[in-house]
Amino acid sequence: MSDDLGRVLVIIPTYDERENIDMITSRLRASVPDAHILVADDNSPDGTGQRADELAAADDHIHVLHRLGKEGLGAAYLAGFAWGLEQGYGVLVEHDADGSHQPEQLPLLLEALRDADMVKGSRWVPGGKVVNWPKSREILSRGGSLWTRMMLGVPLRDATGGFNAFRAATLRGIRVDEIASAGYCFQIDLGWRALKAGFRVVEVPITFVEREYGQSKMSQKIVAEALVRTTWWGVKHRAGQLRELVGRRRRELT
Ligand code: GDD
Ligand code: MN
Repeated sequence: MSDDLGRVLVIIPTYDERENIDMITSRLRASVPDAHILVADDNSPDGTGQRADELAAADDHIHVLHRLGKEGLGAAYLAGFAWGLEQGYGVLVEHDADGSHQPEQLPLLLEALRDADMVKGSRWVPGGKVVNWPKSREILSRGGSLWTRMMLGVPLRDATGGFNAFRAATLRGIRVDEIASAGYCFQIDLGWRALKAGFRVVEVPITFVEREYGQSKMSQKIVAEALVRTTWWGVKHRAGQLRELVGRRRRELT
């Protein structure tokens, strides 16, 4: 399907996902059989990394990146991107381990990537859904996207969404090595950088299902980081726009 885009690598960051890792890898292997999977594990105390090693030993499409300790989902993805780019994959995909993202919908994202540089799986475009999500998380997610749209002026409906597909060239073009965001604002950061660099970012509707097993690593610290960083980017962005406007006006007057 995506032969012209090159080989596909699906990166799954994991921290204590022992109960989910078999389920998610087998569904991905069935949904897009040609794709390779990279599990980026932060030395999970529950043994997710060892289980991933067993799965990798039995399947040459599964790979494991063992990291030393919990450093946040952003850092795990950056290490995964670096590994994938180095190995020459043409498409890199972000995918949660816990069943919130549906592997069966990955073909839709890959199809859309034919005409885009980055595809975001989106809960908040027509056709997008959330299942079993507490109202509080929905409000936070919608509010976070609204705040991001207001601060940065980005046209994204689901700015924090974590089910994303990139062409390798997109990741190379947005200087991912400079990204410092650790938590969920990592996703905002990627979309914002892609748009600023002039890449075509497309949202496709997905169904996001709350996990059945294990726990979300969402914390107040993660929300606070996102709020502080988007606000800071927004202030810099708006100040830049203002400077441009004033400069233009001054030139008009002289
Ligand atoms: N390696 C590693 N290290 N993986 C991590 C870490 C970490 O520190 N923290 C979380 N993960 C992994 C989880 O194991 C899971 O596979 C994935 O990252 C998502 O983590 P969750 O804790 O399940 O996140 P969530 O459901 O609260 O958030 C999801 O939705 C957000 C938007 O609402 C994610 O997709 C976020 O990226 C997204 O911003
Ligand atoms: Mn989750």
